[in-house]
Amino acid sequence: MSNVNIGKQAAGEVAAKLVHDGMIVGIGTGSTVAYFIEALGWRIQTEGLKIHGIPTSETTVAHATRLGIPLVPLTPQTCPDLTIDGADEANPKLDLIKGAGGALVREKLVAAASAEFVVIADSSKRVAQLGAFPLSLAVVPFAVANLMAQLKEEFEVAPHLRLKASGEPFVSDDGLSILDLPFERIQRPAILDKRLKILPGVVETGIFVGLAKRMLVGHPDGRVEAVYPAE
Ligand code: 5RP
Repeated sequence: MSNVNIGKQAAGEVAAKLVHDGMIVGIGTGSTVAYFIEALGWRIQTEGLKIHGIPTSETTVAHATRLGIPLVPLTPQTCPDLTIDGADEANPKLDLIKGAGGALVREKLVAAASAEFVVIADSSKRVAQLGAFPLSLAVVPFAVANLMAQLKEEFEVAPHLRLKASGEPFVSDDGLSILDLPFERIQRPAILDKRLKILPGVVETGIFVGLAKRMLVGHPDGRVEAVYPAE
């Protein structure tokens, strides 16, 4: 197993220990979360842990269902006690870039509704400043061409329309296109998030500000470090 995957697995397994009987658990998307789902499924099968999960993508639905994790929809009566999700980048305040898996819309909805949101990641995801990883923007397909031109002009960034391996445009679980924006440096994530969100056709951005209150960072030696937002 690669060093990165050792870190991802360690973080996923420690996160599964935060889950207690009776909880409603938001379940994110991605390769790190896949380790969390495995560990959670194991606890359900071996300890009889009783929980309900709220999945953030159809991939997560399939994985959780395979392991016998009962799922419920997100409603005002089922707000998660705890959500566990991955990230593409996290700065010292635990502002995040998310969305490489294309699940950012549901991920933000579930994280925002959750009493506690914990990020799990290998140590490569910690950065001093967001932006080296392209920022995902979930947009209405009808708006793609105009938004690409507008982003180029107003934000001085050259957006890429995300494609599948087949070369067809990627379509998210919610029927949206994804634009990836290589900003390189994002100095004020909250402000950029607001400026992007007001553009007609933009449904959601991959900037998650002020949501994560803890990050479990998995290191190549299997150690897991808990990190909290810097002041
Ligand atoms: C999916 C996400 C993922 O959480 C993020 O891309 C991290 O993925 P991984 O754990 O595979 O590195 O935001 O939309």
